[in-house]
Amino acid sequence: MTIRFDNRVAVITGAGNGLGKNYALFLASRGAKVVVNDLGAAPDGTGQSGSPAQQVVDEIKAGGGQAVANYDDVSKPESTARIIQQALESFGTVDILICNAGILRDKTFLKMPLEDFESVLRVHLLGTVYCCTAAFPVMKDKGYGRIIVTTSVSGLFGNFGQTNYGAAKLGIVGFMNALKQEGHKYNILVNCIAPLAASRLAGTVMSEELMQMLKPEFVTAAVAYLCSDLCQSTGDIICAAAGWYGRAQVVQNKGVSFGMDREVTPEMIAARFTDITRMDEATGFSKSGEATALIRQMNPS
Ligand code: NAI
Repeated sequence: MTIRFDNRVAVITGAGNGLGKNYALFLASRGAKVVVNDLGAAPDGTGQSGSPAQQVVDEIKAGGGQAVANYDDVSKPESTARIIQQALESFGTVDILICNAGILRDKTFLKMPLEDFESVLRVHLLGTVYCCTAAFPVMKDKGYGRIIVTTSVSGLFGNFGQTNYGAAKLGIVGFMNALKQEGHKYNILVNCIAPLAASRLAGTVMSEELMQMLKPEFVTAAVAYLCSDLCQSTGDIICAAAGWYGRAQVVQNKGVSFGMDREVTPEMIAARFTDITRMDEATGFSKSGEATALIRQMNPS
């Protein structure tokens, strides 16, 4: 069965370059009407230009697809509202939202001006929040939505010189974890992509050899599935790179219970620290209540 997006309207942020461009071209080639948002910024988020978004729209139209360009900045709520407004005015609705726009301001923490920290949080984390703020009510009213947010191995596992980016990218996972629960009853599914692909941003931290292996098309296949009617998962972090696909998850181990009927001292923690931190039999949870239930189960009164 071929996955198609006929009669679906997709808003894709940061779609003038890299991964977002690839998503836009693919979804449009499968029938979606696409709002191609891109500020046209440099990799560090400075400057702006309408041409990247417009070029993607021109390419989609040349291939017989439907698309409009939008040049708004996702890091400002009033500007982000205009992106969704443009989808409503041009195509009547929003079915799919891919929050993809991103910048990098890598520096070690000691050397990082707060402005660089805040800018990265504003584009990645708040940009994602602002887009969802504007699109979620539309999706709720129609009882349908597919939202893809974007994390990174840097946020999931940490990368030297990226405290700002890591904080933003894992913040996005926390945002998704709650939003998936609020969206579920309205048939709004929220999933997260953790990509690795050759792009301007990746080029600043990856070797040339690695870049050759990382075709954006590999990531696009997973994102397109997550945007489709066929996908019924919500709250998953899907990793995609170089033809490999997997899932990342926050897990908690079984830990150690000392019981509640005696004092627990730091020395007791020290003595059992290896057992407290061993990760065999670790489990993931679909909501926080499941994690607290496990603690109750380990600690019967
Ligand atoms: P890219 O630099 O090729 O594309 C990002 C686009 O976002 C640019 O066209 C830029 O103009 C646009 N943009 C930046 N700030 C914006 C703003 N305020 N409003 C609207 N548009 C804005 O980067 P790439 O690699 O395609 O990254 C896409 C997403 O994937 C980002 O969120 C990035 O953090 C994430 N990612 C990418 C990885 C990779 O290996 N390429 C790895 C992990 C995550």
